Amino acid sequence: METPPRAGEAPSALKRKVLVKSYGCQMNVYDATRMTDLLGREGYAETKSEEDADLVILNTCHIREKAADKIYSELGKLAIAKRALNAQGRDMKIVVAGCVAQAEGEEVLKRQRAVDLVVGPQSYHRLPELLRQARDGARLADTEFAVEDKFRTLPAPNRAQIRARGVSAFVTVQEGCDKFCSFCVVPYTRGAEASRPVAEIIAETMRLVDAGVREITLIGQNVNAYLGPDGDGGEASLAQLLDRLARIEGLARLRYTTSHPVDMAQELIDAHRAIPKLMPYVHLPVQSGSDRILKAMNRKHGADAYLSIVESLRKARSDIAMSSDFIVGFPGESDADFEATMALARTVGFASSFSFKYSPRPGTPAADRDDQIDETVKSERLAALQALLEEQRQAFNAATVGREFDVLFEKAGRHAGQIAGKSPYMQPVHVEGPMERVGREARVKIIAAGSNSLGGRLMSEEAKA
Ligand code: 5AD
Ligand code: SF4
Repeated sequence: METPPRAGEAPSALKRKVLVKSYGCQMNVYDATRMTDLLGREGYAETKSEEDADLVILNTCHIREKAADKIYSELGKLAIAKRALNAQGRDMKIVVAGCVAQAEGEEVLKRQRAVDLVVGPQSYHRLPELLRQARDGARLADTEFAVEDKFRTLPAPNRAQIRARGVSAFVTVQEGCDKFCSFCVVPYTRGAEASRPVAEIIAETMRLVDAGVREITLIGQNVNAYLGPDGDGGEASLAQLLDRLARIEGLARLRYTTSHPVDMAQELIDAHRAIPKLMPYVHLPVQSGSDRILKAMNRKHGADAYLSIVESLRKARSDIAMSSDFIVGFPGESDADFEATMALARTVGFASSFSFKYSPRPGTPAADRDDQIDETVKSERLAALQALLEEQRQAFNAATVGREFDVLFEKAGRHAGQIAGKSPYMQPVHVEGPMERVGREARVKIIAAGSNSLGGRLMSEEAKA
């Protein structure tokens, strides 16, 4: 039943529904929840269906050409839906948020007439005001890098909202990037590196844990460059922040992503030894195994430096597994350069990875180079690399059979009597077990490995408990 409107509240406002569709990275997933929370206060209920929505927000990604193109084809479909609604006397406002909004600004309004608002990632707290203007018929683009602190002006979710989102949550600790890798748009779309104060992050984490969250992933475009005010006039590093968060009672697991090799301080590597709650799984993009290409990418390290970080991590915690990002077909990449990437992957042995064909992005230095690689060569290299990485992923999954580890249970399993959760390495794990286990960690012995999930058995004392 719907709550009747209170005096002074517009009845129509209570009935509005918003659909936020997120693309790309985890930062967008986090931002989407904050936008939903903010609009919740404005009377918008969350919906998963486009037909119901009075407001559709596309939270977009600009990292590769394909990602940006997808948005325009999505907008084309929304425009048709909007026209159909208009014909019935209803309206649907369309907002483009995220990195396409930031990168293209008013261009989006010109390219797709059905779009009402374009809002960059630094302006989400201004959404309510912008929507009011849109309802009066304005079409606006707001892509200012705000002086006010976006985080402080976005509301915190309430207990019910947190509960509905499950046992695992993201917390943004850092945003932006100062690295300027020559292929990447992020420094232009997300701006300069900025870190949130320690106290704010602790308060947000405690609120999440208090409502039942057991696993927190600290996110940032360059998360291990985190250097946040600690309240004593000093600054805390990511390792120090992790140490503070690990003391929160009830929090079982900590993760952080995404890191840059250059900022992989010894102190952070040591944190993997010192903090048991810090999961033994590190996502550390390498992009290429060739020193020449790494230099052209402006990554500021060579292949050996990457390998020695992996070695130090494994020394700090022997059960650490690695994941990575790769780009093939960067301008000027020779067969020998590509072979060096394959060799690096063979040396490390990744548990999981993401790999992409190089995609020239307007405004980035690498896009202007005249030694771009042929699409067919890119495709061949990507297929070869992905075959190797997939083989490594399967080998890693198979090697977990017989091991015991804690699984954080998230939901009912595929079959009756089963529950499902995640291993320390993010692998889905299914076991026979009671629903009371959901929301907590339990010790599991892995007994089978499929291609995308593992089967396990609750250790006897856990099954009884
Ligand atoms: N082309 C292809 N892949 C890219 N990435 C970033 N920019 C590009 C690009 N222009 C990849 C990198 C990065 C991941 C998030 O996306 O591997 O780590
Ligand atoms: Fe892009 Fe490089 Fe910054 Fe990562 S470190 S966001 S790849 S510029």
